[in-house]
Amino acid sequence: MELMEKAIVAKKKSYSPYSHFKVGAALLTSDNQIYQGCNIENASYTPTCCAERVAFFKAISAGKKEFKAIAINGDIPFCYPCGVCRQVMKEFCDDDFKIYVGNEKEIKEFTLKELLPYSFDMEK
Ligand code: THU
Repeated sequence: MELMEKAIVAKKKSYSPYSHFKVGAALLTSDNQIYQGCNIENASYTPTCCAERVAFFKAISAGKKEFKAIAINGDIPFCYPCGVCRQVMKEFCDDDFKIYVGNEKEIKEFTLKELLPYSFDMEK
């Protein structure tokens, strides 16, 4: 799957000298562009940004507003997005936004609604 391959390539750029845990993400926009991200850590720890948010913020700062899917790869069989990243996805994506976790051998597919049920929404 192309999106997962791009996430695996993105992982190579990970700056993770503190956790030594590399993560890559590839975000597919509604107009079929792919934005890659890797995790970027900091000596002060809290400024660390996950691969998923790096991909989102690159895309949003380039003017993209609609997204179809994200693939995430880490050095474990299935690297699920953290709660903060799920909330960022919620800000910009519909319930049926696809989240792929896995590697070149096996991929699991979820919707945002499945990974972030009962989420905060001022409209509801
Ligand atoms: N990390 C991500 O980039 N994405 C995830 O889905 C999980 C965690 C990063 C943050 C930190 O740099 C390292 O992995 C360990 O938590």
